[in-house]
Amino acid sequence: MTGPRTPRFPRLLVTGGAGFIGSCFVRDRLARRDGTHIAVLDKLTYAGNRANLASAESDPEQAARLEFVQGDIADPTVVAPLVAEADAVVNFAAESHVDRSILDPEAFLRTDVLGVHVLLEACRAEQERAAKGERAAAPRFLQVSTDEVYGSVESGVSHEDDRLEPRSPYSAAKAGGELLVRSYFVTYGLDAVVTRGSNTYGPYHHPEKLIPLFITNAIDDQQLPLYGDGLQRRDWLYVGDHAGAIGHVLAHGRAGETYNIPGGNERANREVVARLLELLGKPWSLVRQVEDRPGHDRRYAMDGSRLAALGWRNGMPFEEGLAATVQWYTHNEAWWRAIKSGEWEDYYRRQYAARLAGSRDAG
Ligand code: NAD
Ligand code: TYD
Repeated sequence: MTGPRTPRFPRLLVTGGAGFIGSCFVRDRLARRDGTHIAVLDKLTYAGNRANLASAESDPEQAARLEFVQGDIADPTVVAPLVAEADAVVNFAAESHVDRSILDPEAFLRTDVLGVHVLLEACRAEQERAAKGERAAAPRFLQVSTDEVYGSVESGVSHEDDRLEPRSPYSAAKAGGELLVRSYFVTYGLDAVVTRGSNTYGPYHHPEKLIPLFITNAIDDQQLPLYGDGLQRRDWLYVGDHAGAIGHVLAHGRAGETYNIPGGNERANREVVARLLELLGKPWSLVRQVEDRPGHDRRYAMDGSRLAALGWRNGMPFEEGLAATVQWYTHNEAWWRAIKSGEWEDYYRRQYAARLAGSRDAG
């Protein structure tokens, strides 16, 4: 019998590891039981949730390989000692919601641009230590970016070398962050890779986003605020596949390269909502057509051949993933009800009260 293979990066620093995709990455990695140690650095903003790591923390073998640090990626005094202990840094930390970036852009610049800068500077310092023989190798840096940096793609698919044309404060900040990463590869020779994932869905997704918002509202027979005509198109990627693809790029990606991570499941928002209601046994009459998001990107779609050539394949069919997600929310009400309180109520009012008051039948 052979044991698990020694991982290429036995000590990982995972920033934003208490969020949706980051926590999936951490849970999946620890569950491999290959000896990997993970330090999670997370500010625990409204989107961060220690409960997302509970399954690992309650397993003694996994818990012994997990360290949690509450802190800000934009704080060099917190970041430097953690990067000094890491063989690789995977940066999930971000302000991640387009609608909040429209209400309040500044936090996006602080975390998604300046935070990335602080992480890169810490990696550069470690690279200098490696050059002096003070550590074995410089850390590898993986920046988790998004298809939204390409802007709205009316037809065809985005390739990694296409122009970046972000259109929201969120996507502009993410573009800034990943361009900094690129500059550190070119200028300082940092071992860095970038991934651009598509719209991700699955368990532990904060209920501010389309799929979990509509599932949880529908469970409570609350209205579902569909922006504009609801014919905007997104390419849906299951969270376990997104986290797995990031791990694959971390292990096999070429330094300085960017990799699209498409889901291969392009759907109009209306189609997704109809399927969710079907799975929940709830009526379409819950759906309300509301004022559109300003600057709303009509469509995202990416080419995935570079990632495929690296040997990655997604595993979750959309129908199955959506059904599993609906089931998870129906079985984990305590998780999302705790989030849909406090700060949430103020956000929901700001984002939706006027929209719902002026809403109409969604046809
Ligand atoms: P999320 O909002 O669920 O999680 C973000 C995490 O980062 C939270 O735990 C939060 O507390 C933490 N965080 C925020 N600011 C921080 C700071 N300054 N310092 C330390 N921690 C901080 O986001 P997500 O959906 O899991 O997305 C993770 C990453 O993937 C982001 O970089 C996002 O841009 C990218 N991405 C997301 C999607 C998607 O559909 N969700 C798609 C493509 C790319
Ligand atoms: P979202 O989950 O916010 O992801 P992104 O904006 O990053 O694609 O939104 C997905 C799609 O759903 C997008 O076209 C906006 C739309 N949407 C609504 O129609 N109503 C809502 O309440 C939300 C949150 C999103």
